[in-house]
Amino acid sequence: MRLPLIDLDPYLSGAPGSLRRTAAQVGAASRTLGAYFVANHGVPESLVERVFRDSARFHHLPMRRKLAVRGAFDKGVGYLPPGDRAPAPSSYGSSRVPDACASYFVQRHEAGVPDANRWIGGLPGFKETMQAYLDAMAALARHLLGLQSVALGLPENFLNRQPAFSPPEQRLRLLHYPPREATAAGQFGLRPHTDLGYLTILAQGGVEGLEVLSRSRRWIPVPAPAGHLVVSNSDMCELWSNGRFRAAPHRVINKGAAERFAIAFLAAPRPDVRVDCWPGCENSRRGRAPAPRSFADHFAAKLQREAAS
Ligand SMILES: [Fe+2]
Repeated sequence: MRLPLIDLDPYLSGAPGSLRRTAAQVGAASRTLGAYFVANHGVPESLVERVFRDSARFHHLPMRRKLAVRGAFDKGVGYLPPGDRAPAPSSYGSSRVPDACASYFVQRHEAGVPDANRWIGGLPGFKETMQAYLDAMAALARHLLGLQSVALGLPENFLNRQPAFSPPEQRLRLLHYPPREATAAGQFGLRPHTDLGYLTILAQGGVEGLEVLSRSRRWIPVPAPAGHLVVSNSDMCELWSNGRFRAAPHRVINKGAAERFAIAFLAAPRPDVRVDCWPGCENSRRGRAPAPRSFADHFAAKLQREAAS
């Protein structure tokens, strides 16, 4: 089994019939693996290269400078050093030692709202690069939500017009994985998990390491071809589609001798909006949708389960 590849060019250039055809591809990939590649996605390769270059500049700084912008996982801003999160069991496989990766979170903020980011100083152009990439990803995410809407039998603008996405919460997670040689036995670069938000768009920088769990519980290695982005559905997508669309469980193991960088764009709903499920998803193989849940409800419950285990 392989990750499906969806060419977005016909849809983005408005080719006749492409909305339905591309939405059908997104729907099929979302019902099976919950993850797929997109190519010809409209994000300039030069911008992707810039964001990787600036991520490397950040991660190669001395640790004391990175710790000066230390953040917290539950806040989604700032630097998380390697080993920051305690190992935790999951139904997809348990980690026994903390993850080897380091992360730096950058949040997209709306004009007129105070900027909660913990910006690093002394890297000229860094902030501008991150903002430009966040804007490009936000535009791509809107297209993907449009395609998802049609795949669910709803009008193209349905999801983008929902209060839950007005505005969405969007951030980058700049990930750095050391070479496998540097990690302890049984350690993951990033533990098996599903993402908390709604949708993730991942740029991989040419170094493999990501694996997606199939429904038959086989780990599928994901290649890292230039120009392709990996889209994966996250928890709120699975919950609010009442299981029609799957949140893709995934993990990262950097088996190679080279360090690995990845840029995850994490699109989440507004924390406070409660939804039971999207129209038309009331009855699925899961049965009737449960009581309305917000992203904040889900986030708190998931972290509490992790802490209690
Ligand atoms: Fe993830």
